[in-house]
Amino acid sequence: MNAGELLSLCKRRGFIWPSFEIYGGVAGMYDYGPLGSVLKENIIRLWRQAYRYGEGFTEIDSVTINPEAVFKASGHLDEFSDCIVYCNECGEPFRADHLVARLHPNPDTLDAKSLKELIREHDVTCPECGGTLGDVEEFNLMFRTFIGPGSSRIGYLRPETAQGIFVNFPNLYRYNREKLPLGVIQQGRGYRNEISPRQGMIRLREFNMMEVELFVDPENKTWPRYPFVKEEMLRLIPNDGVERVMSLDGAVREGVIANEVLAYFIWLTKDLLVKMGVDPARLHFRQHLSEEMAHYATDCWDAEVLISYGWTEIVGIADRGSWDLTQHAKWSHEDMTHFKRYDEPHEVEQKVIKAKHSKLGPRFKEDAKEITNLIESCQAEDIKDGALQIEHNGKPLTISDEFFEVETLIRKVSGEKVIPHVIEPSYGLDRIFYTILEHAYHKRDDDYTVLKLKPILAPIKVGVFPLMARDGLDEKAQEIFRLLMDAGIEAYYDDSGSIGKRYARMDEIGTPWCVTIDYETLEEGRGKKDTVTIRDRDSTKQIRVPIDKLVKTIHTMLNGVNFESI
Ligand code: ATP
Ligand code: GLY
Repeated sequence: MNAGELLSLCKRRGFIWPSFEIYGGVAGMYDYGPLGSVLKENIIRLWRQAYRYGEGFTEIDSVTINPEAVFKASGHLDEFSDCIVYCNECGEPFRADHLVARLHPNPDTLDAKSLKELIREHDVTCPECGGTLGDVEEFNLMFRTFIGPGSSRIGYLRPETAQGIFVNFPNLYRYNREKLPLGVIQQGRGYRNEISPRQGMIRLREFNMMEVELFVDPENKTWPRYPFVKEEMLRLIPNDGVERVMSLDGAVREGVIANEVLAYFIWLTKDLLVKMGVDPARLHFRQHLSEEMAHYATDCWDAEVLISYGWTEIVGIADRGSWDLTQHAKWSHEDMTHFKRYDEPHEVEQKVIKAKHSKLGPRFKEDAKEITNLIESCQAEDIKDGALQIEHNGKPLTISDEFFEVETLIRKVSGEKVIPHVIEPSYGLDRIFYTILEHAYHKRDDDYTVLKLKPILAPIKVGVFPLMARDGLDEKAQEIFRLLMDAGIEAYYDDSGSIGKRYARMDEIGTPWCVTIDYETLEEGRGKKDTVTIRDRDSTKQIRVPIDKLVKTIHTMLNGVNFESI
């Protein structure tokens, strides 16, 4: 299949629509239609299930417009850019690394200068008009705005939801009763002014993220549930480029994955994506090369899937180290540390400087008290060649060791302050949404389309059809439709066209089951009263079930029990 076929189905059946289509559309922007909104909500529910209920993480919802200070601290103002090149003839902008994709194995690791050289060396021209290309420059991807009237306070739309979690660290840490690990999730919009989005839902300017920030003790990157999954297998491409299928534990022991927490969340991501319907045969995890890594990351693995655009990143799992908290502490002057309490108090030696009052008084007279304070605020490491340099009355003053001595004290300390490290699985919801649809898309030889969505994700769970829209069949079908909707099962009533056409309409949007109300449903006294048929999308088989067991049967299948075993 090609992406065009799927996108046209999505548009026709109300999954997604290009935004502002009546005004000609805007590249990199899509709206979710009625079916798409429900599918998106169902994806979020599974993700939340894994992290909030499965791992016990806490969820927040922070604002999307941030003051400039946040991105000065986070490094996004200086670092969050792609290389842009304009055509000299038609003026069209391009991502420079995309233009040299076939000339270099990893073009996104190249800086502006190397990209420019590669373009010149290979005479790369404008893909639109064949014109010559201009200089390659850095282009910051953040959308800028102003907070309040006038132009005094610059703000930016967030390029990741993560910063909303980092700036709230002191609140979250208190909420978690000052303990680590602390897992926080957030789902919501991210904004990136992508240079030339041309890949449908893969590269959007306004998109949806589901992010997880896990704060851990830097010296204890272990995870309590790791032992239960450590023999699970992963398909990995480490940064040496050689693909390997390894168990989590093998990968950690051989140093392919740096620590257990990272390994566990790579596995959890695989498990979650497969539960969502991503084909495991078209999924692997690729480690970033060091030149490719985001400015904040010390290690990063991408979940990449094979779709019609080629191998594409849909989730990034990064070890952000202490970058974000260190930076926000520096810029905000707030405490972003964790107090790590020792099991037993430690005895530590402390060297302190004591002023010799008997010497300072006679020498410095009325200034002696102030100089005493200045001397005693120095650290032992400040002593150079046996003397201290201080500043008194705006002038430098050298204090030789006849005026002070160094005492060694033994102190008991109950713990130390550490800046937590962050492990971040960052899920791109729109790319996951698109992948799920592509991997579910099946075309039979007769051109019949079936979306084999996982039932738990399908926007409509049950199509409800009266065999004919008469003889009381339609009223009975409406009753059954209400019965399902009242039980929280998303159903769709349809009485138009042949039964075959109605099945086809449901198959095309991934509805796993259709319930048909026929004359037998209305028959009395032959042991078949009050039954309906359920038809299964994937096998096209049918079974008859009593109406009073219908809701339970659907719930049982939604909980994962196969149609064949019902
Ligand atoms: P790419 O290299 O494809 O631009 P990225 O490395 O910049 O992606 P991250 O910064 O790691 O992506 O963002 C985390 C996730 O957010 C990605 O795995 C992806 O699924 C999603 N994402 C990032 N940029 C976009 C975008 N422009 N449109 C849709 N989803 C995106
Ligand atoms: N928060 C991950 C990213 O934006 O790359």
